[in-house]
Amino acid sequence: MDFSAAAAVVTGAGSGIGRSIAHEFASLGTRVLVADIDDDSAQSVAEEIRAAGGDARARAVDVTDADSVEALADEAFEAFGRVDILCNNAGVTWRPFRSVWDASLADFRWMTEVNYFGVVHGVFAFLPRMRAQAGRKQIVNTSSLATLSTSPGHAPYTASKHAVDGLSDVLREELVDHGDDFGVTVLYPGLITTNIGETSKSVRAQETGDDLSDAIAYTQVRTFDFPHNRPKGPENVGKQVVEAIRRNDPYCLTHPAPESEIAQRAKLWTRAYRGY
Ligand SMILES: NC(=O)c1ccc[n+]([C@@H]2O[C@H](COP(=O)([O-])OP(=O)(O)OC[C@H]3O[C@@H](n4cnc5c(N)ncnc54)[C@H](O)[C@@H]3O)[C@@H](O)[C@H]2O)c1
Repeated sequence: MDFSAAAAVVTGAGSGIGRSIAHEFASLGTRVLVADIDDDSAQSVAEEIRAAGGDARARAVDVTDADSVEALADEAFEAFGRVDILCNNAGVTWRPFRSVWDASLADFRWMTEVNYFGVVHGVFAFLPRMRAQAGRKQIVNTSSLATLSTSPGHAPYTASKHAVDGLSDVLREELVDHGDDFGVTVLYPGLITTNIGETSKSVRAQETGDDLSDAIAYTQVRTFDFPHNRPKGPENVGKQVVEAIRRNDPYCLTHPAPESEIAQRAKLWTRAYRGY
């Protein structure tokens, strides 16, 4: 990837991880479209990038709305003439954590709409035009280290991110099979200190009128001491994503992998066939 000649679109870039990715791209000379449902935060990140000498523009997008994402793609291709990197990063969670039995259908639907269909809409809107373009391309889809471990109280979120993993792994192999110079990276953040709890609450209240004041918090029974639960700031995530794109890595982790959990699940899967 020649970052200095590339153009990138980052969703959920008005804050946190997306903002870090947008800044890092711009510092390498990449033209960036900063997209977020919160237009003010998208505009202010684009302004920060321009103030630092980068090339950025901003646009409001709601990734749950296919037409809104299509319009984002139209603007990107019109402005840049190409899109080399797409980061489907916008995402939401819930606070407080709740058990499956205290969750509502609306909880599952909302998180799936943003976290999974947001990625599907990005792929549908951008992939055909990116495939038609010469040169190296990359999609980076933001999942979560929650899918590599197990997080009681976080089921709708974890499930929506597993869907992102599945889509990304299959898409990557399809592009390989068809000879495209097009990589797919899954970004797995661990605990990154961002506004996600607060933004998720306010986005949900705006979209559904539900302020979650009657939510029943999950009582954690076990304590988890995974390395990925030790908080880090978002500032280095952009650098990690750039390295993963340079190497066309399928996966990018912000924290060490939960190796014992992964090994335990692999063991259970591979021993699960009883031979009948
Ligand atoms: N922070 C963490 O610990 C952590 C851990 C694992 C995964 N992640 C994932 O990283 C991504 C970025 O999260 P973050 O921590 O930077 O949170 P953040 O809240 O700081 O940033 C997310 C941005 O997405 C935007 N957004 C929300 N709904 C949207 C929609 N429908 N359309 C467009 N934009 C929308 C928000 O306005 C916000 O600016 C998310 O996908 C999240 O699930 C975060």
